[in-house]
Amino acid sequence: MIKVAPSILSADFSRLGAEVEDIRLGGADYVHFDVMDGCFVPNISIGIPVLKSLRKATSMPIDVHLMIREPVRYAEAFCRAGADLVNFHVEADSEEKILEAIGIARELGKKTGVTVKPNTPAEAVLPFLPLVGLILVMTVEPGFGGQHFMHDMLPKIATIRGYIDEKNPDCELEVDGGIDPETSPLVKAAGANVLVAGSAVFNRADRALAIREIRNA
Ligand code: DX5
Ligand code: ZN
Repeated sequence: MIKVAPSILSADFSRLGAEVEDIRLGGADYVHFDVMDGCFVPNISIGIPVLKSLRKATSMPIDVHLMIREPVRYAEAFCRAGADLVNFHVEADSEEKILEAIGIARELGKKTGVTVKPNTPAEAVLPFLPLVGLILVMTVEPGFGGQHFMHDMLPKIATIRGYIDEKNPDCELEVDGGIDPETSPLVKAAGANVLVAGSAVFNRADRALAIREIRNA
């Protein structure tokens, strides 16, 4: 089944509860929550207090994408603030520390994911694959919404789909960046099953239609 995870980075934050209710009614599967620290990526977004508020406002599963350095420092706080799934970038710390962060989130009963930036090779997910429930492949350089999809990520998605089928078939494969009705058939064909879309959902007036088009294109 193909899941759609709208990224609230492109939502109107002054009415976040209503925006998220709109995508829930529109058939979204997860809310994608982008956390940026101005250090791991050249932008600053939202963090723990907003996550706490959002947790009270929606029953949808919240998919937290941590674009922060040394995420082990905040793994517990994001779990306790209401994340259902916590994604850690493999580039954000040593392998040992990322494994520690995954362990913290798992112990708190959360689903975990590891994320790879465009320049990070597919093999980088292998040490984590047996432990996680999701791999997230960035299809733009993380930091901003509304960028162009990087077509050269398609072979990496296909390679990771091969690893997942072989080593952990229940693991989900998520893609993030530049996903719209034109690029969604490409990532689906390469093996992705969770599609993050920010601008392609929130910049449209009819979110249900936008979600449907991305899912079914
Ligand atoms: C980028 C974020 C994305 C972003 C996607 O660093 O991780 O989730 O919101 O935005 P679009 O879908 O507009 O490329
Ligand atoms: Zn994201």
